[in-house]
Amino acid sequence: MSDLRISRRAALAGASAIMAWAASPARALLQAAELDVPASVDALIAKMTLEEKAGQLNLMAAAWSGGVATTLNPPSSGPSFDGQLGDAVAGKLTGVFNGNGAAMARRMQSAVMRESRLKIPLIFAADVIHGHRTIFPVPVGEAASFEPDLAERTARVAASEAAGAGIDWTFFPMVDVARDQRWGRTMEGAGEDVRLGELFAAARVRGFQGRDLKANDAMMACVKHFAAYGAAEGGLDYNTVDVSERTLREVYLPPYKAGFDAGALSAMASFNEISGVPAHGNPWLLDTLLRGEWGFKGFVVGDYTGDEEMIAHGFAKDSRDATRIAFLAGVDMSMQSNNYFLHLPALVRDGDVPEERLDRSVRRVLAVKHALGLFDDPFRRIDPKREKARTRTKANLAVSREAARKSIVLLKNDGDLLPLPRTGRKIAIIGPFAEGKHDLNGPWVVYGDNAQAVDLAEGVRAAAGTSNVTVTLGSKVEEPLPGGIEAAVAAANAADVVLLAIGESENMSGEAQSRTEIVVPAPQQALAEAVAKTGKPIVVVLKNGRGLALEGAVKDAPAILVTWFLGSESGNGIADVLFGAYSPSGRLPVSFPHDSGQSPYYYDHKATGRPAPNLTEPYRARYRTTTNTALYPFGHGLTYGVIEYRGLELPQSMGWDGTLTVSATVANTGKRAAEEVVQLYIRDRVGSVTRPVRELKAFRKIALAPGASEKVTFTLRRADLEFIGLELKPTVEPGTFDLWIAPSAQADGVHGTFDLVKA
Ligand code: BGC
Repeated sequence: MSDLRISRRAALAGASAIMAWAASPARALLQAAELDVPASVDALIAKMTLEEKAGQLNLMAAAWSGGVATTLNPPSSGPSFDGQLGDAVAGKLTGVFNGNGAAMARRMQSAVMRESRLKIPLIFAADVIHGHRTIFPVPVGEAASFEPDLAERTARVAASEAAGAGIDWTFFPMVDVARDQRWGRTMEGAGEDVRLGELFAAARVRGFQGRDLKANDAMMACVKHFAAYGAAEGGLDYNTVDVSERTLREVYLPPYKAGFDAGALSAMASFNEISGVPAHGNPWLLDTLLRGEWGFKGFVVGDYTGDEEMIAHGFAKDSRDATRIAFLAGVDMSMQSNNYFLHLPALVRDGDVPEERLDRSVRRVLAVKHALGLFDDPFRRIDPKREKARTRTKANLAVSREAARKSIVLLKNDGDLLPLPRTGRKIAIIGPFAEGKHDLNGPWVVYGDNAQAVDLAEGVRAAAGTSNVTVTLGSKVEEPLPGGIEAAVAAANAADVVLLAIGESENMSGEAQSRTEIVVPAPQQALAEAVAKTGKPIVVVLKNGRGLALEGAVKDAPAILVTWFLGSESGNGIADVLFGAYSPSGRLPVSFPHDSGQSPYYYDHKATGRPAPNLTEPYRARYRTTTNTALYPFGHGLTYGVIEYRGLELPQSMGWDGTLTVSATVANTGKRAAEEVVQLYIRDRVGSVTRPVRELKAFRKIALAPGASEKVTFTLRRADLEFIGLELKPTVEPGTFDLWIAPSAQADGVHGTFDLVKA
């Protein structure tokens, strides 16, 4: 019964997609929106067999023996390296991903260019997410810098190292808005905010692709996971997504669009369904919207076996059906299932897939290979000497250290405990992340090596010397360490200050690592409670891949630093902040709620009809134990200065076709230099569609010497006040807006109102 239902629905979806396509007025438009290719590419397509065409749409994990690809993702039963080489030469593959450097790439490309019938160069892809061999902070950490320009620079470095190692194409940026901190892949994006997400998406694409995609230090970006992968119900990775088209257009889609507008030439379909239709089988998403509405000209790759997974979704009856559905929906290239190679030729022969469609996808892939310069020189990125010369250079590590310290967020600094003096204090570093070559780079690093990264104890010793520093683990990450707490308490008692290095390990966030409770694991919490009882001042050095709900002694510690996974220069970056060589400037890109049970919590939520200002009024939208606010909101982060906001200059109105110039004076009345991220939020008081309680519209990072002040000016246009209206189109309505220039999404800063007036 259920089989019948599935097959009928799947068949209908496929058949109607073909008919709709053939009759569609969008067809002419889409044909116009393809990348240009030289006549030689069309001549090549004319020579290809159906199998060779399907081969160009088939991407597999590299099978180089002992290679990294085989240790990532779910285990695959792919061929041996020799088998894969044979497949490449026979035209069964378009390329491989997560392979092993220039030597492997040279071997494969040489064989294909020498022995294959058509000599179409392979494309080499990899998950170069936040660095290749020089590792930068995890993307959510880097987003805390609120410096898109920094992300562009780290991506540039990553591209130069990876492109030197033969990699043409990175599966990055991941731009999924992450509003639920239970979701482990929060660490891979730019956090919960739309505007921040757009800016980082564009910066990362620009960084990887550079000015000239053919350059031997540029590689193609892939905007993923399209779409709304971060909206998984319950924060459970891969889970169902059911969002309205309005929320999709207003919250989830803009960062992808920003990535494509910045020139990304590939998109990756997401594993999730949206409102009943898996992304891999969604022609509206992959064709009507992406190509028709947005004019995307590159190609769409499926995620790892995502086409095949439509069988488990209950959307396709078998592999052949899944191939037909994915291909007709707009997935040009299949990753890792081998389905396209196995089934597309027969689907064309049987009339289930028009050959014209096959040719169009092949043309897209070849157009991108051409844009990458692979037809001119298939070896342009393959050079073992260059690979070595560009790897982990001094300059690259300096960028990593800069990114590390700029990603750190100072949540709290009671009594100005930080910065610490470099000398004269006995420091006890306590916790599972105190020392050791683990959990430094982060969960999603293919090529970087933790053994080469600087750990916390090394960083602290380099800054403060060795004689006054002790290291005690105290606990394992998720299990107690026998005798650990006693040793930690003794170490704390013998010290003047404790650095408590606790939090999440690498394998607690990332793909398929959703959590139900976003807290510090219980054994480490117990360690914190015991150490706090010594009465010694504690600096919590938190390691985390997501926003956390802090409790007890961790929450109550006088100083808390959020340090994510900072990469190659972890310990040095943290020491720069601890000892005041750098005044922290990071801001939270994700909210830290009071309690896990508030998830999904995000600052730009709607008001209800019964907002809850406190815990005393009954019948209000609050939990029994907490108001629905954040303990540390989006945008929050302290400096070593004392920052004041004053002197808002806000005109009463903004004309319909005019602009609004607004400013505030931001002063550092403290004794230390500071960098402040000045944030501008608005709230549209009344709309034909309800609006969030606050929305970030702009921000600027400024440096303020002690005693200095600066007038910070922003200019808003009508487009900044748009929302997705009742007709699902960008809309703006006259009326009153609140405006804040403030240090976080929950802070008052300076606040006023203005009216948007229609003449
Ligand atoms: C992930 C992608 C990744 C791919 C290839 C998948 O499991 O969802 O983000 O690019 O694997 O490694």
